[in-house]
Amino acid sequence: MSETYQVAVLAGDGIGPEVMAEARRVLDAVTRKFSLSINYTECRVGGIAIDVDGRALPEATLKACEAADAILFGSVGGPKWESLPANEQPERAALLPLRKHFALFANLRPGVCLPELVHASPLHPATVAGGFDVLCVRELTGGLYFGEPKYTKQEGGEYFAVDTMIYWESEIRRIARVAFEAARQRSGRLTSIDKANVLQNGLLWRRIVTETAADYPDITLNHLYVDNAAMQLVKNPKQFDVILAENMFGDILSDELAMLTGSLGMLPSASLGEATGTGAVAGARRFGMYEPSGGTAPDIAGKGIANPIAQILSAGMLLRYSLGQDAAADAIDAAVRKVIADGLRTADIWTEGTTRADTATMGSAIAAAI
Ligand code: IPM
Ligand code: MG
Repeated sequence: MSETYQVAVLAGDGIGPEVMAEARRVLDAVTRKFSLSINYTECRVGGIAIDVDGRALPEATLKACEAADAILFGSVGGPKWESLPANEQPERAALLPLRKHFALFANLRPGVCLPELVHASPLHPATVAGGFDVLCVRELTGGLYFGEPKYTKQEGGEYFAVDTMIYWESEIRRIARVAFEAARQRSGRLTSIDKANVLQNGLLWRRIVTETAADYPDITLNHLYVDNAAMQLVKNPKQFDVILAENMFGDILSDELAMLTGSLGMLPSASLGEATGTGAVAGARRFGMYEPSGGTAPDIAGKGIANPIAQILSAGMLLRYSLGQDAAADAIDAAVRKVIADGLRTADIWTEGTTRADTATMGSAIAAAI
C-alpha cells in the first residue's frame, strides 16, 4: 500500500468554501485515477474562526497543519472583520503567522495568460497575442513584512510609524536558488528585481543574486529596478520568464502580473518551505501552503459564480511540490486547459460565443476531464 498523504484544508471566508468544494471534487477525480490516498482534515481559519473560536488561527488548526504534508488554503477576510484591531484581522492574525510559522519563504506565483483568454487581459491584444507565461518567485518571510522594529508611536503630538526592511544574505541566497532552479525547468531566463539605486537592501540583493548565478551558468540573469519592472510588465510581459523579487516588491508585481493575465480567478500559488532531501525545487518534496491569488471576493461570495480554477490549480501545485505527484498535477493542468479550450467559462472570463458556467459546473467539467 502506498503512502497516505495528510492535507489540511483551510477554506476560510468569502468564496473560499465554494471554490474549495470544486478543488476537492477534482482532487477526488485524480486520486481515483492515480490510485492515491489522501486524508483531509478540514479546519477553520480567518473570519469564520474569529466568529466560532475567537481567533483567526485557532490552536487546533495550527496543530492539524503541523501534522499535515501540506495546507490547501482558500482565502480569509471580509468586510465583517475589517473593523477589528489590526492585529486580530484575518490577514495579519492567520495568513502571515502561517507563513512565518512554517518558514514558507518561497512563494511561486505563475502568471499564465492562456491563448484562449487573451481577450480578458487589459493589455492590447497585439501585446499579448498567443498568451504568455511568467513565473513570479517572491520571497515571503523577510523584508518589510516581518522586520523588527515595527511600531507606531506618538511624539511631540504627532504619530510616526516604523517598519524595518532587513534581509540576511542567507535569506536572499535560498530564494535566489529557488528562482534559478525554476528558470532551469523553464526557458532559462531569470530577471531579478531590486531597488539598488536607493536601498542598501537592493545592493545586497543584487550582489547575492549575482554570486548565486555562478552556480547556474546555464541561466541568463538580468537585473531590473522595481519601478522599471512594473513598467516593462505592462509594456511587454512576454519578455519575462522567471521574475525574482523580495517580499514587498513581489507582492506588488504579482498583483500586476495577475491582472495582466486577465483574471485573478485563474491564478494559483504555492508557498514553500525548505526541501526535504535535495535542494532543488523539482523532484524534492516540500511542506507548502497552496492558495488562489484572488482573495475572498466578498462581492460575489455565496452566489456560486466564482471561478474555481485558481483553487483547482493550487491543488495541482500541492500534488507537485508537497506530494511529489507530478503526473497527477499534470493531469489537473491538462484538464483545466481542455475545459477552457472546449469553451466553458465562468463569468469573469466569459465572452460572446463561449458557454457560461457557474462554479460547480466548471469544477465538475474539470473533474470529468481528468
Ligand atoms: C498576498 C496578499 C497578502 C500579502 C496580504 C493579504 C497580507 O496580498 O498574498 O499577496 O501582502 O502578502
Ligand atoms: Mg498581494
